[in-house]
Amino acid sequence: MYKVTKAGLKGKLEQSLVEYDYFEFLKQRGVLLSHIPYCHGWIETNIGKGLVYDRVFSYKNRKESLTLKRAFGEKMIDINLTHNMLDELCRFISKERIIVSDLSMSNIIVTLDGKPKLYLVDGIGGRDFDYKYKIKKRMPFYTRYKLKQQHRKIIKWIEFELNQLK
Ligand SMILES: Nc1ncnc2c1ncn2[C@@H]1O[C@H](COP(=O)(O)OP(=O)(O)O)[C@@H](O)[C@H]1O
Ligand SMILES: [Mg+2]
Repeated sequence: MYKVTKAGLKGKLEQSLVEYDYFEFLKQRGVLLSHIPYCHGWIETNIGKGLVYDRVFSYKNRKESLTLKRAFGEKMIDINLTHNMLDELCRFISKERIIVSDLSMSNIIVTLDGKPKLYLVDGIGGRDFDYKYKIKKRMPFYTRYKLKQQHRKIIKWIEFELNQLK
């Protein structure tokens, strides 16, 4: 099994503290981790403390992780598939009441072996480990509203890109 480590500068550590806390919270709640890589906890690295995650590969036999942005930009997936996968991801996020602070095409990895599927690899929980985060943790409605906004923004971006290609 391959892993990725997220470590680095000061700001990253705070984000990791949120990610770890939130991942444990989701596990406790029994959330199905069908679109989120598993988080194994902390590791010391030469650039500081970091979190270890399972790495999501786009193909079973190739060590490559394609972001949704790249897969769409390089026409490996078409517009319908992109929309369908995004709908599925957003339904999952909404159903499980997951806080997503940054739903963007670069934070999503697409797997293309078997049924194509999206994994959210970044932007879960939030960036700051503050009282706002603690409130959001308990407020699914705010989260759903924000998710819809972010989803719409991506759809706009996709449409813009398609028009550029015409
Ligand atoms: N679990 C993962 N599996 C595969 N690729 C990943 C994973 N986590 C991150 N990546 C890749 O690394 C890139 C940067 O990671 P990310 O967590 O988004 O950091 P940041 O946006 O803060 O630089 C992502 O866009 C993605 O391509
Ligand atoms: Mg990112």
